Amino acid sequence: MSTCKEVGIVGVRAKNMMAYNSICRMLRRESDYKFAFGNSVSPAMHAWPWDIWGAGNWRKFVITLDRAQIGFGAIFIDKPNAVCCIELGLLPQYRGQGYGGMAGRLLLSKCFTQYGARLVESLALSTNLRSIGMVDWMTLEARLEAQYLIDGQEVDELIYKITKSDWELRRENT
Ligand SMILES: CC(C)(COP(=O)(O)OP(=O)(O)OC[C@H]1O[C@@H](n2cnc3c(N)ncnc32)[C@H](O)[C@@H]1OP(=O)(O)O)[C@@H](O)C(=O)NCCC(=O)NCCS
Repeated sequence: MSTCKEVGIVGVRAKNMMAYNSICRMLRRESDYKFAFGNSVSPAMHAWPWDIWGAGNWRKFVITLDRAQIGFGAIFIDKPNAVCCIELGLLPQYRGQGYGGMAGRLLLSKCFTQYGARLVESLALSTNLRSIGMVDWMTLEARLEAQYLIDGQEVDELIYKITKSDWELRRENT
């Protein structure tokens, strides 16, 4: 019998909206939150009832590990340009074990197969080494130097990108 745990993403519904919001609340309370996500709180960090109906530009997911709810994932859909941007976060006890990378790939797949993306972006702060390590399927497109001023420290923003054709190639080769 395999002991391999399975990472999944489950769309926000009435029954898991509270879990989504409590995971985001826990992440926002972390002492280094700003060095991971920046100074402003992204709309990804809260689920509202209209997210259940899929209205608006955001699609939100609870990240699961078997039956456990371990994180949040969110996709911003820029429909006219056919671009998606992904954000995710895991509860601390689930980090550093490859689950973020797996969840990121599931979100990427959604963008290309369901939301009509030509390309997908992900933003990371230079202070967030795990986040940088996680975007292994993506290419560094730009570095906005000193874009953020966090607790008096200048922090760069890194913009990663993958096109649909690159994603198809990566998928075939793994
Ligand atoms: C960012 C996050 C989702 C990554 O998920 P994760 O499961 O912890 O990451 P993974 O285990 O998939 O590891 C990512 C990579 O970073 C590398 N890494 C981990 N910690 C690192 C560190 N301190 N320094 C350098 N590299 C590191 C890992 O080796 C791994 O690379 P590999 O796959 O080549 O071995 C998760 O750490 C998290 O939720 N952090 C807090 C919230 C956050 O920062 N969200 C992102 C905001 S944009």
